[in-house]
Amino acid sequence: MKPTLDEHIQRDPRILKVYLEARRRYSEFKFKHHNFGHVMRDLHRALLIAADEGSVDYNILIPSVLLHDIGFCTPDFKKLGHDVAGARLAVEILNDLDYSDDECAAVGHCIHAHKGKAELPRTIEAQILYDADVLEKAGLVFLIWGGNVISEFNESIHHFLQREIADRRAEVARGLFTRKARELDGGRLEKVRAMFQKIRKEITEERPDYEITEDDLWQSAPP
Ligand SMILES: [Fe+2]
Ligand SMILES: [Fe+2]
Repeated sequence: MKPTLDEHIQRDPRILKVYLEARRRYSEFKFKHHNFGHVMRDLHRALLIAADEGSVDYNILIPSVLLHDIGFCTPDFKKLGHDVAGARLAVEILNDLDYSDDECAAVGHCIHAHKGKAELPRTIEAQILYDADVLEKAGLVFLIWGGNVISEFNESIHHFLQREIADRRAEVARGLFTRKARELDGGRLEKVRAMFQKIRKEITEERPDYEITEDDLWQSAPP
């Protein structure tokens, strides 16, 4: 059965307020990939993983997932990283929605640690968010969705491949934290890393024609 939010909201009505606030903020930015649809997929996976774990605090987990990429909605994300900027903004949002200091700190940790870069996830809620988010990349469909990421950040294909290969390599080495996430991955994260590597080899060594730009068609500058 698909996990739903209804019972969680009945238990803690603040979750609905976070949900509506998150949906409003993500929709303002119209991101091609890091949008509310991505958040919903992560939330579905997080609830599946949580159901397989022992004691999980849903009052921390659900707001953390809903706000985990909110950092992209701040101008600070390029300088600080969206994990660091997002943790700060999430705490501000939750402070206004009657979350206690302890709850804000717990959610802040989950978001701060969701890339495994600023810090590693220490709590079960942070580990579930991390796994749910990594699983977004752990399927060959991400080779198609990667195009959305390229256009969202206006990246070159070289930069995208360099970043994705390094990130996937680190994630494979770090491993997933939960049993259910490892089952859902089934080795796909490593397959995606290997495919990106293959694409990079193709465009750098075998098919340089993919690198041709208008400038290459002229001896001096194009007319
Ligand atoms: Fe993120
Ligand atoms: Fe994400």
